[in-house]
Amino acid sequence: MNARVGVIGTGYVGLSTGVCMAHLGHDVVCVDLDAAKIEKLQRGQATIVEHRLDELLFEGMEAGRLRFTTDAATAVADRDVVFLCVQTPQGDDGAADMRHVHAALAGLEPHLKAGAVVVNKSTVPVGSARSMTRTLTRTDIRIASNPEFLREGTAIDDFLSPDRVVVGCDDLAAAEKVAALYAPLGATTLITGPETSETIKYAANAFLATKLSFVNAIATLCEQVGADMVDVAKGMGYDRRIGADFLKPGPGWGGSCFPKDSRALVHIADQHGYSFDLLRSVIESNDQQFDRMAAKVRSAAGGSLHGVTVAVWGLTFKAGTDDLRDSPSLEIVQRLQADGAIIRAYDPTVTGPRPGLPDGIQCCETSVQACDGAAVLAVLTEWPTFTRVRPDDVAAVMPGRTIVDGRNLLDREAWTHAGFRHLGVGR
Ligand code: UDX
Repeated sequence: MNARVGVIGTGYVGLSTGVCMAHLGHDVVCVDLDAAKIEKLQRGQATIVEHRLDELLFEGMEAGRLRFTTDAATAVADRDVVFLCVQTPQGDDGAADMRHVHAALAGLEPHLKAGAVVVNKSTVPVGSARSMTRTLTRTDIRIASNPEFLREGTAIDDFLSPDRVVVGCDDLAAAEKVAALYAPLGATTLITGPETSETIKYAANAFLATKLSFVNAIATLCEQVGADMVDVAKGMGYDRRIGADFLKPGPGWGGSCFPKDSRALVHIADQHGYSFDLLRSVIESNDQQFDRMAAKVRSAAGGSLHGVTVAVWGLTFKAGTDDLRDSPSLEIVQRLQADGAIIRAYDPTVTGPRPGLPDGIQCCETSVQACDGAAVLAVLTEWPTFTRVRPDDVAAVMPGRTIVDGRNLLDREAWTHAGFRHLGVGR
């Protein structure tokens, strides 16, 4: 059954939720405090890079099922379910900062429709739904948890083909109301208490981060013992208990979720008297991976980076997004800069200085231009376009002949044939 849905916050999570809910047939109003953002969305223009977003934005607005406004009070007045998708940035102690969530809820409360369900879609500390319920003065409103498991770049497809839908609420009718929104997807649905649902989100992300730190550790070992991580991952992945996904070694994991959520979970555990040492080492091991990648580039340059030009392909935390938040590439670039390296970079989505980009990076217009005068080429994001660069074009402008391929992306044979030394991860 179609419902009236409100979405507060039009960042990655909110916008994906809004357009997908409209795609499922619901009537959706998205709200943001940022008037410039809302105006752009009202013109039908996407405010983030996300596959299929333009298409769904157009579809929802054309059908009259998707609207954007800065007026939260009016927007929520007739909404059955309101998703809170505001930012929960990391505080100094690692805990998620709930200021925006609380402010949004307090602002909405007097205007909500009788019996409305307010849903935390943002990743919030365990116990948030319950503590938010305690702050309410109205008794007809329910707070539920419905974590998102969306990957940037494939958020729309992930939303529309979920592995599962999780809803946490003590009030079964309210939980079912939220779960019913997803009914057209026919997904596996799990209804739990709010603490369980909130923990599922952290546990899933922390487990995936653990998987990657483990893979990167095995990759380091592979380099020492002469094994090939690409085949080791295949051999591990055939075991159904392990699974073939998320086994690619790389320059370390990053992005807007894993670093923040894993630190937050360590903090939550600390607050409850449990020292989550396993997860602490997972995070530490990831920092070591950044160090190892930087050391590999240093050694490829002959031991010192002082005044040495390094070409960097890829600045975003992964391909398919323009997001620089907690990007492993930037972690590594900053280590190289600290050693005196001059960085010439190319990334299809980063054309010049912008917030989050460290100073001193020369952003080039093409992959080949970034290699001009470089002693070493470091491939740090797996953009498919890099695989189409011709080795001879790079050889013509780059005096050095070593590639540190942090994503095992390039065709080793073709580049070796063109005279390059190709150093991958775990091989
Ligand atoms: C992640 C979770 O996957 C998603 O469920 C959650 O809701 C938000 O956080 P996202 O941050 O978009 O999504 O990135 P993801 O695609 O999971 O990759 C995270 C990091 O791991 C990236 O830095 C990526 O490059 C790295 N990674 C991923 C690897 O190094 N190897 C892999 O095999 C997979």
